[in-house]
Amino acid sequence: MKMKPVKKAVLPVAGFGTRVLPATKTVPKEMLTIVDRPALQYVVDEAVEAGIEHFVFVTARGKIAIEDYFDSAYELEDALQNKGKIELLSELKAKQPLEGTMSFVRQQQAKGLGHAVWCARDIIGDDPFAVLLPDVLIQTDVKSCLAQMMNAYYEVGGNIIAVDPVPDDRVSNYGVIRPKDPKTARNKSLIEMDGMVEKPALEDAPSNLKITGRYILQPELMGLLKDQAAGAGGEIQLTDAMARLMQTQDFHAFIYDGQDYDCGSKLGYFEAVIAFARAHPDIGQDAQNLINKSAKLK
Ligand code: G1P
Repeated sequence: MKMKPVKKAVLPVAGFGTRVLPATKTVPKEMLTIVDRPALQYVVDEAVEAGIEHFVFVTARGKIAIEDYFDSAYELEDALQNKGKIELLSELKAKQPLEGTMSFVRQQQAKGLGHAVWCARDIIGDDPFAVLLPDVLIQTDVKSCLAQMMNAYYEVGGNIIAVDPVPDDRVSNYGVIRPKDPKTARNKSLIEMDGMVEKPALEDAPSNLKITGRYILQPELMGLLKDQAAGAGGEIQLTDAMARLMQTQDFHAFIYDGQDYDCGSKLGYFEAVIAFARAHPDIGQDAQNLINKSAKLK
């Protein structure tokens, strides 16, 4: 089957980050440091590895640091050049996106994730697109989570949603999917689905497979988001619009190989810092030694 390639990604970055206040009072939560780079850089790297060529950031007031981060920083580059810090300079430049490959649109009112994604509609046009929720960092051994999903997409097409099993007591914090008959599953990691629900009570949850925050979606979703009624928490939910699109298009849930961290929460952020420090090529071993040392302290 020949699929239209997925080259655009929407990154909703308009949220306040209330769970990690006061850190996020002046610094966007997506810019909080994980070892030596903002959390957002990991998500962009994940998407680039998956073949994404254009990023649409859905921002809000107070998020200008994100736009500046992806711009060139002339004074800094000049200073590094003059001081002979050429390696640092080339590292910085290697992360610099090509001009014209990043768009910034504003969500003027905090009406929910579905509404944020809809704000990107003019730039998405008629193309399939990825959505990556930058609160969620996913650490993988080999291929990035979105790159794994792309493989699945080029196999079955339609819409692909990353999922991961969660314990019962956390099911109601997430969107949760309803798998079709397990016998129709293509393999252990790619599951046909026929429903999804946002933040269900445990007794109503159709499975324990939570939606992790990585999606490959078809552009027809935008038309549904336009008139999507508010759902859980009084917000326009992406999950509700996807559940409607499922009536006319195929959806597969994809169980990725990797570990996700919710950087929008204090503990999830802390866990991500530890995990990415341990995996860091320069400081990994020292970080592990420090962790071992602090574990011995009472
Ligand atoms: C959002 C989505 C939800 C998903 C979650 C993953 O919820 O609406 O379906 O499971 O992200 O982190 P939020 O965390 O923004 O409430």
